[in-house]
Amino acid sequence: MGCSRQTSRNRALSSVSTLVLCFVLCISEPSNVKSSPVFACDVSGNPSLAGFGFCITGLKAEARVTDLVGRLTLEEKIGFLVSQANGVSRLGIPAYSWWSEALHGVSNQGGGVKFSDQVPGATSFPQVILTAASFNESLIQAIGKAVSTEARAMYNVGLAGLTFWSPNVNIFRDPRWGRGQETPGEDPTLTSKYAVAYVKGLQETDGGDPNRLKVAACCKHYTAYDVDNWKDVHRFTFNAVVNQQDMDDTFQPPFKSCVVDANVASVMCSYNQVNGKPTCADPDLLSGVIRRQWKLNGYIVSDCDSVEVVYKNQHYTKTPEEAVAKSILAGLDLDCGSFSGQHAMEAVKAGLVNESAIDKAISNNFATLMRLGFFDGDPKKQLYGDLGPKDVCSVENQELAREAARQGIVLLKNSAGSLPLSPSSIKTLAVIGPNANATVTMIGNYNGTPCKYTTPLQGLAATVSATYHPGCSNMACAEADLDSATALAASTDAVVLLMGTNLSIENEDLDRLDLNLPGKQQELVTQVAKAAKGPVVLAIMSGGGFDITFAKNDEKITSILWVGFPGEAGGLAIADVIFGRYNPGGKLPMTWYPQSYVEKVPMSNMNMRPDESTGYPGRTYRFYAGETVYAFGDGMSYTQFDHRLIRAPRLVSLRLDESHHCRSSECQSLDSIGPHCESAAEGGSEFEVQLNVRNAGDREGSHTVFLFTTPPAVHRSPIKHLLRFEKVRLGKNEEAVVKFKVNVCKDLSVVDEIGNRKIALGEHLLHVGSLKHSLNIRV
Ligand SMILES: *[C@@H]1O[C@H](CO)[C@@H](O)[C@H](O)[C@H]1NC(C)=O
Ligand SMILES: *[C@@H]1O[C@H](CO)[C@@H](O)[C@H](O)[C@H]1NC(C)=O
Ligand SMILES: *[C@@H]1O[C@H](CO)[C@@H](O)[C@H](O)[C@H]1NC(C)=O
Ligand SMILES: *[C@@H]1O[C@H](CO)[C@@H](O)[C@H](O)[C@H]1NC(C)=O
Repeated sequence: MGCSRQTSRNRALSSVSTLVLCFVLCISEPSNVKSSPVFACDVSGNPSLAGFGFCITGLKAEARVTDLVGRLTLEEKIGFLVSQANGVSRLGIPAYSWWSEALHGVSNQGGGVKFSDQVPGATSFPQVILTAASFNESLIQAIGKAVSTEARAMYNVGLAGLTFWSPNVNIFRDPRWGRGQETPGEDPTLTSKYAVAYVKGLQETDGGDPNRLKVAACCKHYTAYDVDNWKDVHRFTFNAVVNQQDMDDTFQPPFKSCVVDANVASVMCSYNQVNGKPTCADPDLLSGVIRRQWKLNGYIVSDCDSVEVVYKNQHYTKTPEEAVAKSILAGLDLDCGSFSGQHAMEAVKAGLVNESAIDKAISNNFATLMRLGFFDGDPKKQLYGDLGPKDVCSVENQELAREAARQGIVLLKNSAGSLPLSPSSIKTLAVIGPNANATVTMIGNYNGTPCKYTTPLQGLAATVSATYHPGCSNMACAEADLDSATALAASTDAVVLLMGTNLSIENEDLDRLDLNLPGKQQELVTQVAKAAKGPVVLAIMSGGGFDITFAKNDEKITSILWVGFPGEAGGLAIADVIFGRYNPGGKLPMTWYPQSYVEKVPMSNMNMRPDESTGYPGRTYRFYAGETVYAFGDGMSYTQFDHRLIRAPRLVSLRLDESHHCRSSECQSLDSIGPHCESAAEGGSEFEVQLNVRNAGDREGSHTVFLFTTPPAVHRSPIKHLLRFEKVRLGKNEEAVVKFKVNVCKDLSVVDEIGNRKIALGEHLLHVGSLKHSLNIRV
């Protein structure tokens, strides 16, 4: 154990004298002393362990787990139900901290990760919402892979665990949500694809052995969790009232993809209740869906202290013991917190839960650690054993962080002659705004310590002479220094304004109340633009969207960029885009609503679909037909892309099983919903949509081709929804063919009110940009 651990942020309260002592000891130690990883079955250090079945790597994992559980007393078992798991020294098992985070880089939120002199920081990729805007699955997977390499490297020197509670795959349902930044946006298809790519990037080993994990990922927060703290609604006590249809076609798909398609090692249940039951104590949601239907190979963990919340905040149970018993019986394996550790023994004694249920839970936890190699002895002698501090913050990983930010940045407005700025004509630049010289703001939440920062000012100043003014007294911008900012703007060739938020405005436990730029930011932007002589670029640094209608309509504001929270290399990426060294191709992963939207929609209303009787407008581009400031998928380029349809069927005929009830003629006439997707015969039908995409402009660029569909208007189906996307990179005048395989059952079905997925018969409209193609499905 290195003394350097004592300097981590989580130990900030440790006394000065400890630090001084530690400092002295560290200096007096030889410089080649390294901290070592935690692992069990150190057979070479303790030969007696070789006789334990759970340490024998040649045995099947299941047999090893059974052997291990069989050796533990009930008290010891209970020690493995919680995130700070106790060690059992007689068996050579060290204490283990389950809670590590890696949302967009190895993060020290949670206690499983520490930074030290040996590894002072890790690569901080853009916050997820910006990476999602790249719509590039290979980029997402590459980031996951870089993060897991850094994680393993830190584990090898005792600075990280192996179990990471990332990604967050909740749907960004309401624009005010403070944690929207952590998610891939509002669309279930994109969120599912993001989840699969990131989880694979984290988990998959180079050898490709599905029984091994590089690190264990965790999809959270299951489920229908996307209110933190809004007015008097708080996540600990919020009961999300969700109908089955929204559950099945909006909230559940990303989790299902995590488990079924990415083979994620863990799912975390949320704080909130769903339809009156705490998710962490709901046997249908946990054992029923995750474990039995989706066949999770791994463990289910609670959000931190949420078992306690079930009792203490929700009063769902009369006693702590009951809360612990109910959650274990529902299928929870690990409690993030200590509550289950404190009350499980009493729960067993009271007959609320038996020892075999506890065995089942800890077996899932142990099985995951087995796949990670935790019980295989010295990790230095295993796969990834040669990773170490040199592999953290590598040049390649830091370059990938810059590339990810470039690929995500979204160009929302660009008047002729504005961007890109030409350094030969723009000699002086004013860089104004509370985020103009941002550091920590760029990395959003669930962050670690980055390798370094390049601020927007530093990025821009590397190309032209740049003068900085923060414009506002702070992010909330209660006071704006209009005089100095406008004077500066009037004296330079161009202006870049960096506005938006930081974690004081949108964060976990902090939802927004409105969609306006904070305080006097709007006034500052407007006045600066008015005073400027040349191009004015407004860059919004934020997690969520804003009502910036004023800027959209202001001719003096010649360009608008959304830069998310762009990560440690944000300033480099922003400068690359502004000076045209990189042609932007990011697309919004969420709707930007007008302020009037949030004035009429309570955050607590979970319904995705509109309700004409109450005037409720519905949510996200799939159901909301009202006015937007910017729409899902918006994003321009410095070049122009055209689409042409090469091939798509006009008619798809389905064949039904002999036995299918829809063989009787009244099936079709009841409504236009066809066969259930669960029965195989009709589902096999597949066709291809082929498109030609051409870069019609004079510079290289990347373009995301979206294939949307509008199903027949039955069962309150979506206005349109995203079936597929593919990003292509094309040189000037270059063209490419993009092919999408469409599965009739998976892609052209709709979910009815009671959660059945059925093929909608009749006319489906396919959209690619402004291209529309009508397709008929008949039985
Ligand atoms: C333990 O409890 C579970 C769940 O209630 C039950 O299915 C099982 O039969 C019990 N096992 C024993 C050995 O009593
Ligand atoms: C910008 O931020 C960097 C990093 O915090 C700091 O070193 C630099 O002095 C700041 N620049 C100005 C002009 O304030
Ligand atoms: C947000 O930015 C302001 C300065 O503009 C700063 O005072 C504050 O500490 C920041 N808050 C967080 C949580 O980053
Ligand atoms: C997707 O990202 C990868 C990794 O950065 C990159 O090599 C590739 O060019 C990107 N694809 C497109 C179409 O931009």
